[in-house]
Amino acid sequence: MAADELRSELAIFGDPDDRRSVSLAENLKVALKPRVDAPDTWHLVAAGGNLEISGPNGIRFSLSEAEIEQRLMGFSQSSLAKACAASRMPRIFDALSGWGTDGLTLSMFGCEVVSCEINPLVATLSRSRVLTMAPEMLVLCCDANDYLRCGSYHFDVIYLDAMFPEHPKGARPSKSLQVLAALAESCDLSQTLKLARCVAADRVVVKRRRNQAPEDEQPAWSVEGKTVRFDVYRSSSM
Ligand SMILES: C[S@@+](CC[C@H](N)C(=O)[O-])C[C@H]1O[C@@H](n2cnc3c(N)ncnc32)[C@H](O)[C@@H]1O
Repeated sequence: MAADELRSELAIFGDPDDRRSVSLAENLKVALKPRVDAPDTWHLVAAGGNLEISGPNGIRFSLSEAEIEQRLMGFSQSSLAKACAASRMPRIFDALSGWGTDGLTLSMFGCEVVSCEINPLVATLSRSRVLTMAPEMLVLCCDANDYLRCGSYHFDVIYLDAMFPEHPKGARPSKSLQVLAALAESCDLSQTLKLARCVAADRVVVKRRRNQAPEDEQPAWSVEGKTVRFDVYRSSSM
């Protein structure tokens, strides 16, 4: 389903008489509709004050706040923090934000973060966690390329975490990644990287599998984690 089509249909399904569900929908600026009207396809569900995503075969998934709190412990020494030079408190654009886990961690560490996700269901679930954990952080729902082309902002760092290709050894991804894979839009990373390098004042950071070769352009340097690698590209606007 195209992102625009989804946006016009965006709703949260729940009990319209439940005060916490009403308040959740109001805070997220999304209509609350009765649970009986929920479609068979992926949709958002208000379970009391908590937002979940529900899909085919009864799959249900919600985002964890504990995951972010855990990631914040020792975060300054993490590969992501080093690659983004997070201790300098840069202004960061998390262009392909998905569930927003990386962007929210950077924001709670103290960086100023704007995140962007093209899929409205994914963006809304991410926004629900951001609202409770870092209400000052902005979560946009649009095509990051369009946003970068409009040009009225300043970002020191642009962070790109596109969906990885299927694992070569067929390793089963986490539930969070399985749900994201079912909803995520694919991205022309080379095109977004070129654009991001023209816009970022300092650097663009691309997350890849540790042994995945860059598609075309070689990074200036890389920071390796256990299973992933953060490739750092200098801004071409300097
Ligand atoms: C691998 S996920 C990011 C995961 C994220 N770093 C996290 O911590 O949860 C990549 C996301 O980029 C989104 N995406 C793909 N193309 C996009 C575009 N042009 N603009 C904005 N988001 C896009 C996909 O829908 C997907 O949710």
